[in-house]
Amino acid sequence: MSVLTVENLGFTYPGSRKPVLKNVNATFAPGKTYAVTGPSGSGKSTLLSLLAGLEKPTEGRITVDGEDLADLDPDRYRREKVAFVFQSYQLMPLLTACENVALPMEMRGIPVSEADARAKELLESVGLPESLRRRFPGNLSGGEQQRVGIARSLASGAQIILADEPTGNLDDENSAAIMQLLRTQAAKRDFCVIVVTHDEAAAAACDRRLRMHGGSLTAAEGTEG
Ligand SMILES: Nc1ncnc2c1ncn2[C@@H]1O[C@H](COP(=O)(O)OP(=O)(O)OP(=O)(O)O)[C@@H](O)[C@H]1O
Ligand SMILES: [Mg+2]
Repeated sequence: MSVLTVENLGFTYPGSRKPVLKNVNATFAPGKTYAVTGPSGSGKSTLLSLLAGLEKPTEGRITVDGEDLADLDPDRYRREKVAFVFQSYQLMPLLTACENVALPMEMRGIPVSEADARAKELLESVGLPESLRRRFPGNLSGGEQQRVGIARSLASGAQIILADEPTGNLDDENSAAIMQLLRTQAAKRDFCVIVVTHDEAAAAACDRRLRMHGGSLTAAEGTEG
């Protein structure tokens, strides 16, 4: 069973002649975590943009739950099916850490008090100290904001979580804790996590590993697709 399938995917940025992605094939299953590694410029972030529906394939197709992504309403797809953890966090600056995490739940109609309680739990699970919950993002360190971003993605109820360097600003201990959390939550709640990372330990903590090289994707040695 798969939640996301990529077939013969190719992509060239507008105005450029050189393809950035070439004949990429992959299948992503619910409940599993995937690491995409590879050299700088090999196309990892571009692949995530396509999976997020932010760019459209120039060749091939992406299927979500059996439906062609090109046929889905892009706003609805991004609102309901996918959540991102980007390196620039993209937290709401005028909402506290806790409010940032509660927001996607409130948008789904969960009552404020329940969303607030669940947001506190999630912030605890990503290791954000209680004393920081009521702070605005601008008063948090990069690593602290990153943990709020991860908690928010877990709050979204999305089937697919896309994360570009989610542990990039964390120390080894927090990084390992976050990867462990993503893996256990993915298995428990049956969502799929795709992590782009340069961090060897973070990649090793995922269920499957994929390697991007010059725009092509291969299963890393010793793993199945
Ligand atoms: N908006 C753009 N327009 C044209 N080319 C782009 C654009 N964004 C990225 N590229 C090019 O596409 C290629 C792949 O970039 P991408 O950001 O996907 O790499 P990456 O594997 O994520 O690298 P890194 O590990 O450095 O983040 C690079 O050659 C890059 O210069
Ligand atoms: Mg990148």
